[in-house]
Amino acid sequence: MLLHVPNVLTPEQVAHCRARLEAADWVDGRVTAGYQGAVVKQNRQLPEGSAVAQELGNLVLAAIERHPMFISAALPARVYPPMFNRYEGEEHFGLHVDNSVRLIPGSGIKFRTDVSATLFFANPDEYDGGELQIEDTYGRHAVKLPAGDMIVYPSTSLHRVTPVTRGTRLASFFWIQSMVRDDAQRALLFELDTAIQRLNQTGADEQARTRLIGSYHNLLRMWAEV
Ligand code: NI
Repeated sequence: MLLHVPNVLTPEQVAHCRARLEAADWVDGRVTAGYQGAVVKQNRQLPEGSAVAQELGNLVLAAIERHPMFISAALPARVYPPMFNRYEGEEHFGLHVDNSVRLIPGSGIKFRTDVSATLFFANPDEYDGGELQIEDTYGRHAVKLPAGDMIVYPSTSLHRVTPVTRGTRLASFFWIQSMVRDDAQRALLFELDTAIQRLNQTGADEQARTRLIGSYHNLLRMWAEV
C-alpha cells in the first residue's frame, strides 16, 4: 500500500528544519547504503547520530506518533531513527530495494524494515526532477509531495529517486518495523479502521460498530507480533 500522509509537520516546523538542514554539514550518502545501494546511490546525508540529525529526528518521531493516519496504516512496533538527505546538481539514487534488516545504531538491536517513509522538506516547485518512483504490481508511481507531507510504502518495493536538475531536494527517510509484517494484512486493517472511524463520526448503529471494532482488534490480535 502506498499512502500519502498529509500535514505531518506544520509550516513552522518545516521552516525550522530547513534552517537547521541548510546550516548542517553533509556527508556522502553511500555511508549507509548496502552493497546493492552503494553502486547506484549519489546524494548526501546528515551523519547518523549527529546533533542536528538527532534533534530533527526527535521532532519527526514526535510528529508521526501523533498522526492517526500514520499509526493506522503502519501499525509501528519500532521506528528507525530518521535520517536526512539532500539531492542537487544531478544527484540521484538508482533503482534498488532497501536493506531488509538493519542494526539500530549504537544499540546492537536488529530491525526488520517493513514500511519505508519519506518526509518532504522542499515544495515540488522548488526543484526539478527528484521524483521518488515506486514500482508495484500496478506499475510505476511518481511521488513528489508538498513540504511537511510524507509517503509510506512497503519496503519490499523497488524504487529510485530521479536526478535533481534544478534546486535542492531535502527530505527525511526512515523505516518502520510494523506489528503486522505483511503488507496485504496491514492494508486490510487500515481499510477496516478507516471505515470504523467514519461510522463513528456519522453515528452509525452502535451495536454493529462494537462488533466491527471487536473484529478489527481480533484480526490485529491474530496477526500482530509485539
Ligand atoms: Ni531506498
